[in-house]
Amino acid sequence: MWNPIYTLFLALPCILASAEIEKPWLKSIITQECPDVEEIVSLTLSPLDLPGTIYGCNRTRANMVLQLKDKSQISKSVVVIALPSDPLREKQISESGLFEVDVNVYKNVLPRMEEFLNKTGLAEKKIWVTALALEGASRLVVEDWEEQNYKLVPRWDGLDMEQCKTSVENLARFHALSAALESQGIITAKKSFDLSLGQRNKDKIGDWYGKVFEEFAKSIRAAWGAGFEKIAEYFDEKSKTITNDILKIMKRDDSKFNALLNGAFDINNIYFKNDENQKPVGIRTVNFQNAFWNSPALDLQHFLNTSPKPELIGDDSKRGQIVEHYVKTLVKSLKDFGHEKSITEEEVASEIERTELVGIANAINVLSGLYMKAEDAAYADDFIKEALKTKQIKIDSRGMVLPKFVEVMKKIVNRSLKLGVCKC
Ligand SMILES: *[C@@H]1O[C@H](CO)[C@@H](O)[C@H](O)[C@H]1NC(C)=O
Ligand SMILES: *[C@@H]1O[C@H](CO)[C@@H](O)[C@H](O)[C@H]1NC(C)=O
Ligand SMILES: *[C@@H]1O[C@H](CO)[C@@H](O)[C@H](O)[C@H]1NC(C)=O
Repeated sequence: MWNPIYTLFLALPCILASAEIEKPWLKSIITQECPDVEEIVSLTLSPLDLPGTIYGCNRTRANMVLQLKDKSQISKSVVVIALPSDPLREKQISESGLFEVDVNVYKNVLPRMEEFLNKTGLAEKKIWVTALALEGASRLVVEDWEEQNYKLVPRWDGLDMEQCKTSVENLARFHALSAALESQGIITAKKSFDLSLGQRNKDKIGDWYGKVFEEFAKSIRAAWGAGFEKIAEYFDEKSKTITNDILKIMKRDDSKFNALLNGAFDINNIYFKNDENQKPVGIRTVNFQNAFWNSPALDLQHFLNTSPKPELIGDDSKRGQIVEHYVKTLVKSLKDFGHEKSITEEEVASEIERTELVGIANAINVLSGLYMKAEDAAYADDFIKEALKTKQIKIDSRGMVLPKFVEVMKKIVNRSLKLGVCKC
């Protein structure tokens, strides 16, 4: 989801009071959905994420026992997504526009998509949760997806082939839906989500990826063993241009097929529902903070380089199968949704080739945070607070020497060497 090491750009202190989650407020939200509710008998709040694992928001689960007008009682749970209450971080997240993007997607895009799916009899194909309340750019209340049996796969395990296919098939449908609705004027995603988080904040972030690549080169020398000096040198050299290279790749070409991207479509943001044989039958994705309008290959690069199991992640033929499944669903969905234009497998393949470098950068950036253990969370949180206080862009590179990270990055780099993306 939100990798803590990614956002440490400068912020100014300011004091903002956070709103408490209280019964009267929740009751006003719940009764809009369910007018039969008379009273909230009990309310238990629990944090949804470990400190330090989700940077861009503070997610709290609110478990309630509700008394209905007929005096019977039911339990109900919702998730409150709010700006972090730490004043420095709250200010920074507000300025980055992350929360605004999330609220904007929940308010202006997802309901239109849902109406369209409902009308075409495809209601079961939705991949998002419904927002119950949207409070400006600071607080969002959504259905609790776990109450509907959608669960994460442990991020250390990675997704198996079946889960990967289910994920990209749903992603393809989402992309197709956005393109179809945009062309019919039902949503205005291209204008509203013109730039990615990195593009919007490029001056504040500075040479972020350059620093990440430098740290990565150091970690190769420290943790990869003998025989990798050439690769370390490559990443050192590449660190001088990588930020610009990435900005160039991210520059949208409006003559190509574009769609609304989730921007953070990975194992931390994909919740699966399984059938009785433990086969995935549907997904929910909750975080849209990084949504932007661009080439779908960017969502695929993010997914393919962060989410499959280690034995799939560096295997070109397995990746090919996942992409093929994506394209098949995309083409079919565009047709189903009445989009006049289509896309070919060659076009997607060429976009994937063009964006490989973004994929590698995503792997380094995301996996170094993803493979951290729960006991590292408190450290990551302190690291962020300290960096915010001292206003320095620092890279928390502890994750880069974890054995699992080293194992997976060796595979990803190996694949990139074969493809000619890395040249040593
Ligand atoms: C998150 O929100 C809860 C509920 O409002 C609050 O008690 C908690 O202090 C917040 N935590 C952070 C890190 O902002
Ligand atoms: C779509 O249909 C479901 C019932 O199948 C309904 O609960 C939901 O409110 C509908 N959504 C929209 C946006 O119309
Ligand atoms: C990298 O590729 C070579 C052959 O191209 C292979 O011998 C080696 O085992 C691979 N290493 C990893 C870590 O996959």
